[in-house]
Amino acid sequence: MSDFADRLTRWQRLHGRHDLPWQVADPYRVWLSEVMLQQTQVGTVIPYYQRFVTTFPDVATLAAAPLDEVLAHWAGLGYYSRARNLHAAAQKVMTYFGGVFPRSAQLLETLPGIGRSTSAAVAGFCYGERVAILDGNVKRVLSRWAGIAGFPGEKAVEKQLWALAESLLPVSETDMPAFTQGMMDLGATLCTRSKPQCQPCPLRGDCRARLEDCTAELPARKPK
Ligand code: ADE
Repeated sequence: MSDFADRLTRWQRLHGRHDLPWQVADPYRVWLSEVMLQQTQVGTVIPYYQRFVTTFPDVATLAAAPLDEVLAHWAGLGYYSRARNLHAAAQKVMTYFGGVFPRSAQLLETLPGIGRSTSAAVAGFCYGERVAILDGNVKRVLSRWAGIAGFPGEKAVEKQLWALAESLLPVSETDMPAFTQGMMDLGATLCTRSKPQCQPCPLRGDCRARLEDCTAELPARKPK
């Protein structure tokens, strides 16, 4: 068995990001940040996130706000369906869940705008639920580590990556927040698209792409 999860978790605790404003125990804030981060970079999201939580500090306030006001706080972030879904999801939490965020990835996924990876991020960070995330950064890390040559946008390859991500989860729920953040941090800081820094990487010892000197070729680009 690989000690992938142990190495990644330890690395995250020592070298990962610990000062992001959404690293809090509140599922409302974690959910909001994950939706903002779906298509937008961390540096752009931070000021939007700050303004948003100042105006809408909790799910009840967001649900009760007029949609126009929510959209005004989103102006500049793009992909406005995210803001519409956010507002609709807040109302659903109030109506169907008594104002309390659902406590499992499965239930979180019933809310508008929350897909498999976003629900897993919230459940992993806030509840320690052992569920895998798979965003662009994680696809890159796993394609390289396992030497998966197919294009990750292809259904069969994506399915393979989800299964791999699930097989690598830590045994203990206690490790889930650091593990989940570690997957994101590794992809954002070391295992970058161009010029990855393999020397300080906790996975370098058994990373197929590094051993076979093909980090530049993985993940595969969209076939023409
Ligand atoms: N991208 C998506 N989720 C993130 C998070 N929690 N922290 C940093 N980047 C992210």
